[in-house]
Amino acid sequence: MMDIKLRAGTAADANACGKICYEAFTTVAKAHNFTPDFPSPEVAVGLLTWMLKHPAFYSIIAEIDGRVVGSNFLDERSEIAGLGPITVDPAVQNRKVGRELMENAHARATEKKFPGVRLIQAGYHTRSLSLYSKLGYDVREPLACMQGTTLKIKIAGCVVRKAAESDIAACNRVCEKVHGHDRGGELKDTVPKGCATVVERDGRVTGYATTIGFFGHAVGETNDDLKALISAAKEFAGPGFLLPTRNTELFRWCLERGIRVTQPMTLMSRGFYNEPAGAFLPSILY
Ligand SMILES: CC(C)(COP(=O)(O)OP(=O)(O)OC[C@H]1O[C@@H](n2cnc3c(N)ncnc32)[C@H](O)[C@@H]1OP(=O)(O)O)[C@@H](O)C(=O)NCCC(=O)NCCS
Repeated sequence: MMDIKLRAGTAADANACGKICYEAFTTVAKAHNFTPDFPSPEVAVGLLTWMLKHPAFYSIIAEIDGRVVGSNFLDERSEIAGLGPITVDPAVQNRKVGRELMENAHARATEKKFPGVRLIQAGYHTRSLSLYSKLGYDVREPLACMQGTTLKIKIAGCVVRKAAESDIAACNRVCEKVHGHDRGGELKDTVPKGCATVVERDGRVTGYATTIGFFGHAVGETNDDLKALISAAKEFAGPGFLLPTRNTELFRWCLERGIRVTQPMTLMSRGFYNEPAGAFLPSILY
């Protein structure tokens, strides 16, 4: 048995964890002929630097013989926690490091009284699907990661504009209608950067997107709201945006406009889950 030690992360861990994160995702993607989620180690190091410094992310580092072998994160910005990215050095995978990193995050979620935890699983990865299911996660939505040329078309009756701080309350109301809770913490992070958008119908905010892309989420009262937000996007950031394929109308609408599926993914949850009452695109951080 290997002696696995877990500890809290600091910004000084970003380099080691980021490189492992890049290696872990790249190894599994290449084994299945998919494009890796991170284009370079630097992008993974950049993301983990941001998460390790962010006060609302809980971080866990795994070490064996004093060497960093993996990390995991809990996004505590909303009422429902988001788990990940969890990555383990390919050299020591399938030897319980992942399970320990998950169980530590669940203990934290219980201690902080989160009613539920969500994550996005790489649909082609048999190991993570098995591990998460054994640890109590239920499959909630099959997702398609969508990428392609931006649409630049208008949806009748919908006006899309940049989101301002003063829109956050209205955005939170839409999210509460759809998910049963708001995701205001993510809006607070993205609105000042100028990448969040809102859609209005008859002068009322009926949907928003923190970004249309891998690390952004969107909600709308109707599919038209999401179509308008997707249509106005200047890019589909990162590997693409995540679309719940049970929303067949929106999925076909995107496919008919040339947006392509890059990989299958799965939204899973543990504990409390509200079946969404409206249209939504989850973020990779759930
Ligand atoms: C996913 C990942 C974090 C898991 O960590 P790990 O240390 O390799 O996993 P563990 O050894 O703790 O657990 C794997 C479990 O899945 C089981 N398992 C593996 N492949 C399986 C399969 N095909 N069918 C059934 N069970 C399987 C193992 O038996 C083990 O279960 P156990 O703990 O009950 O014995 C790691 O493999 C990784 O970094 N992968 C690449 C990046 C990635 O995909 N991250 C997750 C993003 S969704």
